[in-house]
Amino acid sequence: MKVLSTWSLAASGLALFRPVNSQQPASSTELPHLTTWECSISGGCTSHETSIVIDWETHFIHEAGGKTPCLAPSGVNQELCPNATACASNCVVEPVNYADHGVFTSDDTIILSRYTRQDGNSRSGGPRVYLLGPDDNYMPLRLLGREISFDIDVSGLPCGENGNLYLSEMPMTGGRSALNPGGARYGSAYCNAQCPVLNWANGTLNDGARPSCCNEMDIFEGNAYANHYAAHPCIADKCSSSGCIFNPYLAGARSFWGLGLDVDTSRPLTVITQFLTDDNKTSGVLVEIRRMYIQDRKLIHNIPASRGLGSCTHADPLSHSLGLSPMGESLARGMVMALSLWGDAEQGLQWLDGGDAGPCDSSGSDPASTRRHPEPRVVFSDMRWGEIGSTFRHRLGSAPSVAYHQEL
Ligand SMILES: *[C@@H]1O[C@H](CO)[C@@H](O)[C@H](O)[C@H]1NC(C)=O
Ligand SMILES: *[C@@H]1O[C@H](CO)[C@@H](O)[C@H](O)[C@H]1NC(C)=O
Ligand SMILES: *[C@@H]1O[C@H](CO)[C@@H](O)[C@H](O)[C@H]1NC(C)=O
Repeated sequence: MKVLSTWSLAASGLALFRPVNSQQPASSTELPHLTTWECSISGGCTSHETSIVIDWETHFIHEAGGKTPCLAPSGVNQELCPNATACASNCVVEPVNYADHGVFTSDDTIILSRYTRQDGNSRSGGPRVYLLGPDDNYMPLRLLGREISFDIDVSGLPCGENGNLYLSEMPMTGGRSALNPGGARYGSAYCNAQCPVLNWANGTLNDGARPSCCNEMDIFEGNAYANHYAAHPCIADKCSSSGCIFNPYLAGARSFWGLGLDVDTSRPLTVITQFLTDDNKTSGVLVEIRRMYIQDRKLIHNIPASRGLGSCTHADPLSHSLGLSPMGESLARGMVMALSLWGDAEQGLQWLDGGDAGPCDSSGSDPASTRRHPEPRVVFSDMRWGEIGSTFRHRLGSAPSVAYHQEL
């Protein structure tokens, strides 16, 4: 991992005073730049000039020519937004100061911070951002029969905090339309397999309370004490909310992932995820999602699950009734990369890091723990996707691979 030096504070002060009417094309705002790479075995890796955009509803949406919020914590302003058409002409969307929301980028590195300070007050940032391509649409990641690798530092994430890198099959334009000319550049059209009913859908007022359902592939969810990956495919608006989950602790390996353990979360490490098909082609049927790690230039294989594979597979009973193939079809069409950091105050994130899933107790997100870790943060860097075996060779030394720590 490289030393972090200059941070881009995107959306300059100037841009903040130039609200963009949601009826006009939005092109004047600067977004945080984040270099990513696409790789092949024969051609090596080439960089993409990608950037980061924060979710639509994090933007300040307010009355044109005034400051009355169209969207307040209490909900949508019914006078300004009686319907989608009126809302689009009455309201403008402000660019965002990313540092205020705990988002910092430099070169190929992004830091998400859970709490940010404003006017001396700490407040919850909990940012969710998406990867945007150079054409102002989301960057399509087509990972069927391919792999993705990235470095992550979760040492700053205590129990009860969840740093995420995942894929969502959002419309690549962000639902850009006459009523939403900004589109993906303003982070619109979020959806996931939990089918949230959001205030805005595709960047227009969601006055019909439509659920925003789509395929979701959680490549990494975790903190310094637990991690998992999970496929949540959908068929129409029926989504698998439990999905095919692989968490080494849940599979019985109690000394695999953690501070000072086989995969030592007190230091940066590399996460590799491969989407293997039945014929090893990018057009095949998804049959296995395989996870590996690299640390100290050594490849660390995932612990084997009950059926001997460190992966989610097609036949795995955990893969639920929808199976992996709809997930594979979505990966072939192209999905949007999302990064987020959040905590779950109600459940204390027990489904991720407590009980059978991890060593944390429910005090993880209580105020005392928050005081011990006043500013949880996660660092992602060096994101590369492409042909199987093409994205991580540069991270390996000549040392032999390390098998999982046999303890089952
Ligand atoms: C939207 O609301 C405005 C203001 O109340 C009204 O004039 C208009 O007819 C409505 N449009 C639709 C499509 O319902
Ligand atoms: C958003 O647009 C996409 C693509 O047009 C569509 O499939 C989806 O149903 C829309 N979402 C909602 C909630 O209307
Ligand atoms: C796919 O590739 C793997 C690993 O290189 C190999 O073991 C397997 O036999 C291949 N499968 C097919 C159907 O070619």
